[in-house]
Amino acid sequence: MIPSNGTPIHIKDLLASFLHLPHARQDTFIRVLMTEIGRSHGFLANSATTLIHIVLKALRKFSNRREVILPAYTAPLLMLAIHKAGLTPKPCDISLETFQLDLCELQDCLSSQTLAVLGVHSFGIPVQIQRICEFAGDNGSYVLEDAAVADGSRFAGKPAGSFGDVSFISFNRGKNMSTFAGGVAFTDDDAIADVIQSELESVPTPDLRQRISIALKLIAMSFAVRPWIYTLMYSQISKFKDVSLHEDFDVFQYTEFQAGIGCRLMKHRDDVFRHRAENGRYLQKALSDISGVHLPAIPEDAEPMFNQFPMLVEDASLRDSLREAIIHEAYVEATVLYPKPVNLCYNLGISQNHYPNADYFAPRLLLIPTNPFITMKRLEKVVGVIRKFMQRKQR
Ligand SMILES: Cc1ncc(COP(=O)(O)O)c(C=O)c1O
Repeated sequence: MIPSNGTPIHIKDLLASFLHLPHARQDTFIRVLMTEIGRSHGFLANSATTLIHIVLKALRKFSNRREVILPAYTAPLLMLAIHKAGLTPKPCDISLETFQLDLCELQDCLSSQTLAVLGVHSFGIPVQIQRICEFAGDNGSYVLEDAAVADGSRFAGKPAGSFGDVSFISFNRGKNMSTFAGGVAFTDDDAIADVIQSELESVPTPDLRQRISIALKLIAMSFAVRPWIYTLMYSQISKFKDVSLHEDFDVFQYTEFQAGIGCRLMKHRDDVFRHRAENGRYLQKALSDISGVHLPAIPEDAEPMFNQFPMLVEDASLRDSLREAIIHEAYVEATVLYPKPVNLCYNLGISQNHYPNADYFAPRLLLIPTNPFITMKRLEKVVGVIRKFMQRKQR
């Protein structure tokens, strides 16, 4: 079974990270990341959610505005990160053409209360971030560029994460490059960087027991995602797959062991990302003529680093049985994502507007793995299963 996502971590890199544990690795990792993305300040923490939350708290110090716009279909935890910072999340509908924040809707959503816009590169496909920066800038709002799942993507020749006033990449499980958990925030603004730094100083450091637990889970993950182990353990692993909605998020510092692994992963990054990009491009082409399946339009100038490949099954009643067919006939773990638009996930007392595109999107979305463990032959098999399934159902 090919897992829905996973980062190949070499055993020698795990060993080397242990041996180098006494040396501070976070400084090195952050410097390498800042050079890669081309930014002047960078901060690590236990997750991108933590950093988004901290940055929003920091931005409150620069403005009296209190609303944060985010796509109506994205990671629901972002709603909590905004709410816990004492701000009001304001969902904005997505586009069924691009699967991203709808830029026309965004113009209507912006107001004199908009502190920031979360410009999310969903599924690793770059959103038109320069236009978001233009609209938000004209409105006096900040842009938080959420490249949590888009590490390695590029837009207009520049890396995702290099555009917003502040930007974020996640290293959590299931991200393009994973150190089991973790995230990074970048900015070029010295004043914002100072406030983030002081907010981060009050974030607790995991104690020895937590650090050992994170290191052991990281090692276990690096083995479990290998397809032959994943196949043997699939029935057990699938029980631990967390499908429930998170009610809260932990806030703590990144660890030196994770940073050590992160430094090692940077050396294999181009190779791993080449596979992801090629796999996504293949699916985009091979699925394009299958009727009943709707694919995202990729903006001109965008070079996506597909986290997983998103497709919509137009007849929502077929989505789950198609997923089962891919799992059982191609041995590839196709997945579904969040069951509802973000406004329906938590009761945060915000007005329950209707987001027709997000409502249509949620029950139809199916994700196909693009991670480096999947071979081109296996992807051809996946496409064959989808084609046969859709032809059978449409007869
Ligand atoms: C678009 C998006 N933003 C932010 C996050 C949060 O990242 P993390 O898991 O590091 O908290 C996620 C997580 O899946 C995500 O998909």
